[in-house]
Amino acid sequence: MKGSLRPGSSTLTESFYFWGRSILLGQKLLFDERPKTERRDLFDRERELEELVNNLHRPLVVVTGVRRIGKTSTLMVALRESGLPFLVVDARKLRDNYSLGDLYALLSQALSSSLDRLKDVLSRVQGVSIMGNYVELSWKGKRYVSLGDLFDHLNEKRIIIAVDEAQRLRGPHSGEIKNAMAHAYDYDRNLTFVLTGSEVGLLHEFLGTEDEGSPLYSRYYHEVRLERFSREQSFQFLERGFSEAGMKVEESVIEEMVEFFDGIPGWLTVAGNHYLSRRDLGEVKEMSVRLALNELRNLIESKARISEVTGRRYREVLKCVGEGANSWSKLERCVSEREGVALSSSVLSNVISQLEGMSVISGYQFLDPVYREAVKRL
Ligand SMILES: Nc1ncnc2c1ncn2[C@@H]1O[C@H](COP(=O)(O)OP(=O)(O)OP(=O)(O)O)[C@@H](O)[C@H]1O
Ligand SMILES: [Mg+2]
Repeated sequence: MKGSLRPGSSTLTESFYFWGRSILLGQKLLFDERPKTERRDLFDRERELEELVNNLHRPLVVVTGVRRIGKTSTLMVALRESGLPFLVVDARKLRDNYSLGDLYALLSQALSSSLDRLKDVLSRVQGVSIMGNYVELSWKGKRYVSLGDLFDHLNEKRIIIAVDEAQRLRGPHSGEIKNAMAHAYDYDRNLTFVLTGSEVGLLHEFLGTEDEGSPLYSRYYHEVRLERFSREQSFQFLERGFSEAGMKVEESVIEEMVEFFDGIPGWLTVAGNHYLSRRDLGEVKEMSVRLALNELRNLIESKARISEVTGRRYREVLKCVGEGANSWSKLERCVSEREGVALSSSVLSNVISQLEGMSVISGYQFLDPVYREAVKRL
């Protein structure tokens, strides 16, 4: 379908505008590797932005999609576009077995960043101290503020509470968090929670809206799913990024990038950015594979913390999927051969469902094209 890759909407005037602006401001714009926060720097996502903004009146909205697909960017731009006060909790910073102190420290950071909009509300809450431009929350002792109390006070204003990578909230305090969210869902009509998650299955598991034991059982939420760019969008994205930087890149190079990075905007951004300085596609691919390899190694290491055997099993399953074991029986055979012993079905099934929950694989395939390459080097 290479013939359909010709860009459609990127006009000459548009290219000159972005090129001029990037030179004037000394910015990289589209290839800036940080999450985008401004509408003008976000490529497309018109429909998803509109869908997100239009659903902010609901108590709970969820934004899902594989890693690097643009969740944080879409969230940040939508929050700005909504014109509503918001705070953003970056749950990615939480370690696996986070303490209540860790959780409150994260909330403190989020509240501090939005202090100018929330000072009047926060100054009336017991257990909250405002020290200059930092908000301190007491999480134990007599002047402790519960999450439920905090939400009730924030409810004095219309506020969006966004939690980025909310599946990280799973763990020892998830019950407490969900109880407070369920209370807010029912009573705090001014609050909207927006949760994002790249480990989609784990995020759904955290929410547990279909699990009778979960405090959020049967609560409705609207889900905005971010999908990868089409080939044409990927082509336009790269072309616009290069044109902003004033660089003319051959169509064949752009096409190869489109092919390799399979519509994932985060990879296209990193690749575009590196190509600007290296001008060597082989090197750009190598760099991204190394990045993905590092992420796979971290995943295995985190499992190896449970036990060495567990870590090894994840590695073997990943390798086997990479080698094309695309069915239960093929995977079972491949892993048994590698391990030298037959694995019990329940162990294998657990590893597969965990990897699916983390959105690493789906239907015995890698969701990320660069992971597919990286796994060969594990
Ligand atoms: N629509 C877009 N337009 C411009 N840049 C984008 C777009 N979507 C994503 N990006 C870029 O891709 C990278 C990943 O985006 P972002 O961090 O928003 O994705 P994410 O889904 O939150 O990733 P992660 O799963 O790693 O948290 C960033 O460099 C961001 O600037
Ligand atoms: Mg993100």
